[in-house]
Amino acid sequence: MNESRSNFTGKIGFILAAAGSAVGLGNIWRFPYLVAKYGGGTFLLCYIILAVTFGFTLMTAEIALGRKTGLSAIGAFKKLDKRFGFLGILASIVPIIILPYYSVIGGWVIKYFGTFITGGTKAAAGDTYFTDFISGVKSPIIWFVLFVILTAVVVIFGVEKGIENVSKFLMPVLVVLTVGISIYVMTMDGAMEGLKYYIMPDMSNFSVKTLLAAMGQLFYSMSLAMGIMITYGSYMKKTTNLESSVRQIEIFDTGIAFFAGLMIVPAVFTFSGGDQTALSAGPGLMFITLPKVFASMPMGGFIGTVFFVLVFFAALTSAISLMETIVSIFMDKFKWTRKFTCILVTAYVLLMGIPSSLGFGIWDFIQPLGMSVLDFMDFISNSVLMPIVALFTCIFVGFVIKPKTIIEEASIGGAKFKSKRLFTIMIRWIAPIFLIAILITSVAGTMG
Ligand code: PHE
Repeated sequence: MNESRSNFTGKIGFILAAAGSAVGLGNIWRFPYLVAKYGGGTFLLCYIILAVTFGFTLMTAEIALGRKTGLSAIGAFKKLDKRFGFLGILASIVPIIILPYYSVIGGWVIKYFGTFITGGTKAAAGDTYFTDFISGVKSPIIWFVLFVILTAVVVIFGVEKGIENVSKFLMPVLVVLTVGISIYVMTMDGAMEGLKYYIMPDMSNFSVKTLLAAMGQLFYSMSLAMGIMITYGSYMKKTTNLESSVRQIEIFDTGIAFFAGLMIVPAVFTFSGGDQTALSAGPGLMFITLPKVFASMPMGGFIGTVFFVLVFFAALTSAISLMETIVSIFMDKFKWTRKFTCILVTAYVLLMGIPSSLGFGIWDFIQPLGMSVLDFMDFISNSVLMPIVALFTCIFVGFVIKPKTIIEEASIGGAKFKSKRLFTIMIRWIAPIFLIAILITSVAGTMG
């Protein structure tokens, strides 16, 4: 009796913690702008297929690696095979690249919260409000710095637990609000056409770019290919059912992204008056479209305020988990104190985030590979580094430690691992071949 009880709480606790890291700006900000840009329903379909095959395989492998070794990424690969120590280091670079620009977007979220709470709903819905804001110098940097400091304070004083408890309570509210807003959006003019674009795949929109974007988004949203799930796995109890936990995190994470898309993509059709270029707004999409939705609804100012507070918490918990990861890597490696390491990492994030912010304004002449600085950082982590980490993880599990090592770990205590076949074929053949193809196209596409 007692044992099954602790199993139960163990599983829920694990799923909530992992979902807290997974659900963030990736779901609410990044997913909708990618769906809009890369062909709507076609992207959605690719994403879902990849989530149940690739996402499942990689998350199972990473969590099992962590639970088996009881270590985070750098130690875990090394412990199982000395030659693969580099993989842990490579994986660790990903959060180091992501955190600075993640915090820039986090700053935008605080700015919009500030706008809504001070009654600026109408102003925020104006056509140039967003571009005027991000092309500025001081304002976006001030909000970015505020976001970084809030994250750092939590990490320095070690009060993650408190924040996590608050966000566990806020997360369901965010889900309800997102669903509610998307239902409201459905009643708006032109939304049906947008709904069709969002959920009906149109294969003439399909391209390798769509697949690459869906794959990068999958890694990003589920916190894969950067060692984070390995660390979470190292905290997972042996009695918790690994396979069903992975399935539940996947469903939760994808569900939130789906509703975020439903809230934003059809609304783009409503406000653009049939102008399809509005769909390719990129990173600004959520900040351009949602204020218009809020301005058009009764109590929009209040709902907008609540919405941005909730998104802020989702972003903060993810940023905390990114910063924690970076801090613990350096603490382990150089044996620095926690406080010193936190301050150093904070200084780095502040320094590196500034070009991402200014890249939309006075530094817009810096265009690596023809992208804005923020898009470039995002590209390097999501379309280059993460596929490489994922590829080596597949080779490592498929041919070095063998899939059976993971399957055994997932079957501990008599849990039945139902997807043995799928897992083995995916990790050995389909995933690596696909990843190589994707990497070649991505590099060729940007170079040529
Ligand atoms: N998965 C998070 C999101 O969707 C981003 C993140 C990645 C957070 C890695 C923590 C660690 O926003």
